[in-house]
Amino acid sequence: MIGRFNHVAIAVPDLEVATKTYRDVLGAKVSAPQHEPDHGVTVVFVELPNTKVELLYPLGENSPIQGFLDKNPSGGIHHVCYEVENIYEARDRLKAMGARVIGNGEPKIGAHGNPVLFLHPKDFFGTLVELEQAKTAA
Ligand code: CO
Repeated sequence: MIGRFNHVAIAVPDLEVATKTYRDVLGAKVSAPQHEPDHGVTVVFVELPNTKVELLYPLGENSPIQGFLDKNPSGGIHHVCYEVENIYEARDRLKAMGARVIGNGEPKIGAHGNPVLFLHPKDFFGTLVELEQAKTAA
């Protein structure tokens, strides 16, 4: 069911330092910070030839990233994202197999403008999994 690897997201305690580190130390192409109020994060995209890294920093009062940074003050891998062809089919299949979808089970629009869902880390070996519906040819 899952297709291409889309990105790995890393929560960081200082977005400017993290962006500079990826740009200047690792020599990667980085985006400008993008605010995602629906998800409570500010994101910098690190563009690699075959995939992306997303640097996540809390935005607003109830950011889901804040609790993670409280537990991991120097930052850490927050989630991995796999592409699926159809987010609703993926959700229904996973729920039927007993996996827990986080939130109300309705896909939200993610940082790339595509519908996304998150799956409970306890069902996937301690890793928060994001599913993103791959762009359909328009
Ligand atoms: Co993500």
